[in-house]
Parts: sequence; structure tokens; C-alpha cells
Amino acid sequence: MALFGKKQQSAEISLKDIQLPEHVGIIMDGNGRWAKKRGLPRSAGHSAGAKTFRKIARYASNIGIKYLTVYAFSTENWKRPQGEVDALMRLFTDYMNESLRDFRDDSIKLRFIGDRSAFSPGMLKLMEENEEISRDREGMVLNLAMNYGGRAELITAMRSLAQDAADGKLRPEDIDEKVVSDRLYTSGEPDPDLIIRPSGENRTSNFLLWQSAYAEYVIMDVLWPDFKESDFDAALIEYAKRNRRFGGV
Ligand code: IPE
Ligand code: IPE
Ligand code: MG
Repeated sequence: MALFGKKQQSAEISLKDIQLPEHVGIIMDGNGRWAKKRGLPRSAGHSAGAKTFRKIARYASNIGIKYLTVYAFSTENWKRPQGEVDALMRLFTDYMNESLRDFRDDSIKLRFIGDRSAFSPGMLKLMEENEEISRDREGMVLNLAMNYGGRAELITAMRSLAQDAADGKLRPEDIDEKVVSDRLYTSGEPDPDLIIRPSGENRTSNFLLWQSAYAEYVIMDVLWPDFKESDFDAALIEYAKRNRRFGGV
């Protein structure tokens, strides 16, 4: 994974000249450091990050991205101080209420990926209502990864396959890549082509482990709350320059 700094941006290439990825993933990282730099509590960084999320989701949809998956809360993020976790849950709730209220004419299809069992009944209801209201929309699919972990997702898939095998509904030799993909939260969706990680960290942090087998990673120095539409463009342009071989020549 190469660090991709602003200096490498190519000013002369524009989006209309390049092939866009069908599916983009974003690890929305750096909220805490953004707040710390300003002497603010981490929760202020998360509020700022939530604004950036709204802006970039809308932008991605407008420029024609078909699938956007954003990592909002990992299975490991429960380790954080309770006050920070509570602040994040409030931000998720605000977003879900707002999207029900304000986005009735929107074209975005909202889906939640992750283990829902950890969320309050109120949040679960909001997730279901948001999915229901947007189910038949034709626009961009927006996967919001909440209490998502790639390993947990694979364990859930393995358990369901093992159960089917125990029930005599599945033979071990029937398990192939498609069978596994179909048991993941992203079932039916294409794998991510591009994964953007702002904040400069060079790791997956348990994001889309199976699905990212051949994703192009673009690591950027900007902190998520500072992430602009132009940073998204720069990542798309960097992606378009990559030579994807998928193991071939
Ligand atoms: C990402 O920002 C938001 C979540 C993980 C929920 P961080 O809170 O991880 O910000 P840093 O990495 O501490 O700067
Ligand atoms: C990954 O960021 C999770 C999200 C952005 C939701 P983290 O901040 O939790 O990852 P680490 O701890 O730096 O690997
Ligand atoms: Mg972080």
C-alpha cells in the first residue's frame, strides 16, 4: 500500500477522462487526531467526520459511483471510552433520523453491514426503516459498516455454511468462492475496486477482508474531517493509473 500524497496529484487529468471504479470503500479514519490538533474532544472530531461523510456520500452518488461502502464503526471500536462510543451512537442515530426525514426523494439505497445484535431496539428500527424506504431506489448503494469486522463477518458465514452441512443441505465440495461471497453482508454486490484510507495509516483494520482481495488501496495523508471532494477525485485518478492484473500478466 503506497502512501499517496497531494503532491502526486495530476492536475491535468479530470474525472471525465478516466474509468471510475464501480465500488469504492472508505475507512473514515483520523477524526480523533483532527480534534486533538484543535484542542477539542474526540467527539467533536466525530461530528466533523459525520459532516464529511454526508458530503462525500452525496458527491460519490452525483458523479456516478455505483457502490460506496464506508467504515463507520468496527467490531473493535467498542473498546473505546463509553462517552466516545455513546457520542458515535448518537451521530449514527441523528443521521438515520435525518435520512428518513429529509431524503425521501433521494436516489441513494442505504444498507447497513455488520453485526446488528449489539444495537439498541431504537437504532435497529431506524436501520430497518431506512433500508425499507430506500429498497427500490435506483441510485448508488451506500453500505454503512457499523459494528462491522471482516473476521466476524467470515465467522458468521462459516457458521451458516457449517449449519447447512450439518443439516445435509450442503456438501463440502459445493463450497466455492461464490458460495462464500453469498453469505457475506455484501452478498450480491461487486467486490470493492478501490479502498481509500485517509489519515495515513497503512492497514486494513479488519475492513472487507474477503472482498478486498484485489482492491486497489489508496492511503492519503489527509484526516477524514478535512477530506474534500477534490481528495476523492485525486484517489479516483490515482486508481485509474493502476495496472490491475488479478494475478495475470
Ligand atoms: C475514525 O476516527 C472514526 C472511528 C473509528 C469510529 P478515529 O476516531 O479512529 O480517529 P483517530 O484514528 O484516533 O485519529
Ligand atoms: C478503523 O479505524 C475503523 C473505522 C474507521 C471505523 P480505527 O481507528 O479503529 O483503526 P486502528 O485502531 O487505527 O487500526
Ligand atoms: Mg483511527
